[in-house]
Amino acid sequence: MSEARKILVTSALPYANGSIHLGHMLEYIQTDMWVRFQKMRGNQCIYVCADDAHGSAIMLRAEKEGITPEQLIDNVHAEHSADFADFMVDFDNFYTTHSEENRELSEQIYQRLQAAGHIATRSVTQYFDPEKGMFLADRFIKGTCPKCATPDQYGDNCEKCGATYHPTELKDPRSAISGATPVLKDSEHYFFKLPNFQSMLKEWTRSGALQESVANKLAEWLDSGLQEWDISRDAPYFGFEIPGAPGKYFYVWLDAPIGYMASFKNLCARRPDLDFDAFWNKDSTAELYHFIGKDIINFHALFWPAMLEGADYRKPTGVNVHGYLTVNGAKMSKSRGTFIKARTYLDHLNPEYLRYYYAAKLGRGVEDLDLNLEDFIQKVNSDLVGKVVNIASRCAGFIHKGNAGMLVADMPNPALWGHFVEATPSIAKAYEARDFARAMREIMALADAANAWIAEQAPWAMSKIEGQQAQVQAVCSQAINLFKQLVILLKPVLPKLAADAEQFLNVPSLTWDDLGTALGDHQLNPFIPLLTRVDPKHVEALIESSKEDLLEMENTNSVEEIICNGELEKEPLAKEIDFNAFAAVDLRIALIEKAAFVEGADKLLQLTLDLGGVKRNVFSGIKSAYPDPKALEGRLTLYVANLAARKMKFGVSEGMVLAAGPGGEEIHLLSPDSGARPGQRVM
Ligand code: 2FM
Ligand code: ZN
Repeated sequence: MSEARKILVTSALPYANGSIHLGHMLEYIQTDMWVRFQKMRGNQCIYVCADDAHGSAIMLRAEKEGITPEQLIDNVHAEHSADFADFMVDFDNFYTTHSEENRELSEQIYQRLQAAGHIATRSVTQYFDPEKGMFLADRFIKGTCPKCATPDQYGDNCEKCGATYHPTELKDPRSAISGATPVLKDSEHYFFKLPNFQSMLKEWTRSGALQESVANKLAEWLDSGLQEWDISRDAPYFGFEIPGAPGKYFYVWLDAPIGYMASFKNLCARRPDLDFDAFWNKDSTAELYHFIGKDIINFHALFWPAMLEGADYRKPTGVNVHGYLTVNGAKMSKSRGTFIKARTYLDHLNPEYLRYYYAAKLGRGVEDLDLNLEDFIQKVNSDLVGKVVNIASRCAGFIHKGNAGMLVADMPNPALWGHFVEATPSIAKAYEARDFARAMREIMALADAANAWIAEQAPWAMSKIEGQQAQVQAVCSQAINLFKQLVILLKPVLPKLAADAEQFLNVPSLTWDDLGTALGDHQLNPFIPLLTRVDPKHVEALIESSKEDLLEMENTNSVEEIICNGELEKEPLAKEIDFNAFAAVDLRIALIEKAAFVEGADKLLQLTLDLGGVKRNVFSGIKSAYPDPKALEGRLTLYVANLAARKMKFGVSEGMVLAAGPGGEEIHLLSPDSGARPGQRVM
């Protein structure tokens, strides 16, 4: 075997202010499968990641929740770690960018860039929120579109007419944070001189490090000339202060990719076999791969290699770009229940179903991947349960019954075994190239061949014929050997199924090399069920729970949209409405007559409201804050009485009670002052 490769692999760092959803998982699962494949091949492959913990969105979110940013990022780190572990995403280190290692490396890289003349400073005029005392990023400014006059548009582009503009061009600008009218103010900013790296980048982007379509896209930018990159932000900001520049902070995107290095450095401190310099020095022979989504190409394929070059570090061997996830052919949607959080999925379905489905659909390209839920059920059931697990479950019984669980070495169909062995290099090549879909197709073709042969031999029929017992044992033993081959080939995708199969097969952890050998005369352990069929009811329940996630957000007045890159936008002030529009909302005082848990719902309480004689049934996503529903009974609250009823799995929800707060335990049901009576109109 050739010498083991040293490979460092990363996935994009998730923002530390939102939950992981199935769109994120597309990236982590694909990276994890690739890393597991490399490890099984005997390579030294290290997979690091971290939470992306800096920036104004995190600062504002913590403020809104009444906690420090450090507390927020700690809470989120615990949540993210559990999600990844339960999806079997096996990082060697999952760290945070808010670390001492990252501070030191960020300072060092910045100082090296500065010493080499790659940093410029100049004054920038920007909108400033006088009430909040902070400069406003474009997305924290709203106003009327200068082109089409649509009100309530963000600071950099109009959702209505698609125009892009500078925030100062907006009419009637206001701060989306405080509502104040922003003022223009000057401040000194620090810039990274990206144009200094133009020729290096032209060469590097064509060096084979990128997919061709990505390199082509970058060529357009490179040909039209690069701009200097603003890497500083003014206080207040949650991040690292720039050395020698009090009150100035590194922009979150400066220290985020350095977080890859910092996470690895942190790992090196407890892994004596790893040498930081051997992976990052200019002359490193190790390979370095970043897996990312197509929305962050410029950060990874322009700014990052330029920063590394300018600071005298090595550049990435490859930046592997993937597309977005759609669900049932459309962008993930909260109201359709297809905005699915990782945890909500885990509450209902086996993570290996999704790992397999993603693998079966992931090619090398940057096209979006559609999670079609019908197809998901069908594919997992037909391939994994029907083709793979079925081989073992059909044949193990004959070996246990007929030969006390002892396999025989005979191979009645050596040609088929040979076919299985010969097919493996092409599957390895597909994995190596990240063409998981091709790998899965070729593996399933082998499973089909095995099933066809077993069906033709029909050991279940043979076993009833006297004198055929040896043949039954030989056929079933070969079938189990073929099953073992499939398990090895699928192990990067299905680590839990592989571990259970290893237990049944009574073998130590299988590696790629084990593909060359059959088990011979070998004792099996009792068969354990390896995977059950996807039950469509569980998929329906998942959709319902995802709708509940939405309801919880509606009820807590936290209408922030988690946009696809995971960043939470602060809830902006809504568009002005006239009095008639307000009066159209029929707000009433309601008496909570009964409050109860809802069977099968994680987040809901069922409330029976009395509006002074008229009764209403409401499902409200407030269970996390009111674990003892009885305590709510007899309490008055505010109620939207003329909201269209909504049909849910548990019944019809009529209207909605009003509460405030970010969610979780922090939900506060609104109450009137004493003296208000059920049914009274609120104005
Ligand atoms: O887009 C995002 O979600 C970023 N948090 C990714 C950062 S990747 C790396 F550069 F740190
Ligand atoms: Zn417009």
